[in-house]
Amino acid sequence: MTQDGRNVQGGFPTTRMRRLRYHPAVRNFVRDVTVSPGNLILPLFVRPGEKLRQPISAMPGHDQISPDLLPAEGKEIVDLGIGGVILFGIPATKDATGSDATSESGIIAEAVARLKDAVPDLLVITDVCFCEFTDHGHCGALVERRGQMDVDNDATLEMLAKQAVVHAKAGADMVAPSGMMDGMIAAIRGGLDFAGYEHLPIMSYAAKYASGFYGPFREAAESAPQFGDRRTYQMDPATAVGQALREVELDIQEGADLIMVKPALAYLDVVHAVAQAHPGVPLAAYNVSGEYSMVKAAAERGWIDEKAVALESLVAMRRAGAQIILTYWAKDVARWG
Ligand code: PBG
Repeated sequence: MTQDGRNVQGGFPTTRMRRLRYHPAVRNFVRDVTVSPGNLILPLFVRPGEKLRQPISAMPGHDQISPDLLPAEGKEIVDLGIGGVILFGIPATKDATGSDATSESGIIAEAVARLKDAVPDLLVITDVCFCEFTDHGHCGALVERRGQMDVDNDATLEMLAKQAVVHAKAGADMVAPSGMMDGMIAAIRGGLDFAGYEHLPIMSYAAKYASGFYGPFREAAESAPQFGDRRTYQMDPATAVGQALREVELDIQEGADLIMVKPALAYLDVVHAVAQAHPGVPLAAYNVSGEYSMVKAAAERGWIDEKAVALESLVAMRRAGAQIILTYWAKDVARWG
């Protein structure tokens, strides 16, 4: 306390948090969260063709590319120190059961083989789902119920197991089922084990919400549902965190090795709750297409600073408890240093 009494209650503060902020080195001491390229997974969109690089208009900086361009792309990604890639495919032809997805000569099987052959060090993950491969754009086979078409859960399980085995055979290092079918992890684990891929990890899109933030992705992957929406299988954004915890617990019981929450930014409460409930299970957050495109669009107009906002978003996901982030900014983060 000074003679004029400034440090008494109601006067000037004795505890000053700013003392931890004056010196850059002290700020560095008290920084807990980092984002490094090794934490990140970059999504890639692959379509049949030769020397094809087709810009995705809703996602500036990203293209659909043909398999022959993957070796160079993969080398660049490894050189940048990025943790891995996740592949999405646009097949030459779509049909009711998404048969390209379960074919050994399908677009993803080809993409994986090309990548692993040219860049064996690159971690190659495949998205295991049918929405990009079916002509109706839903995430599995359809069945009619109460006069409406819906995804047939159990028929889709067999298809998912087959798709995962095709990816494994092609050389995938990890599979990531994203269709939100009940029992999908058990079915895929069983299929992989039976085929001799018991070592292959599964990263489950365990808590995945029916989100408007996937809009730009559906252009990128040409996977928009041709009727209806995905609300009979993806989660309702208005459900409390408890349902996400049940989804996660079921997937862990069924054998998921890594867990994902998706989208990320509007669901950081879910990321945090899952991280707290399962500290021993690696947790990923998917920084989805809409989260990327909104920032890109605002930055193009000069309204916000892309780098600052992207890094702040990714730090927030790490602070909430995600060890791994799937993000369209992976290369930028590596380049920003
Ligand atoms: C389904 C899948 C989707 C995304 C990843 N996997 C789309 C969907 O569920 O409709 C979205 C990713 C993004 O928006 O970046 N295969």
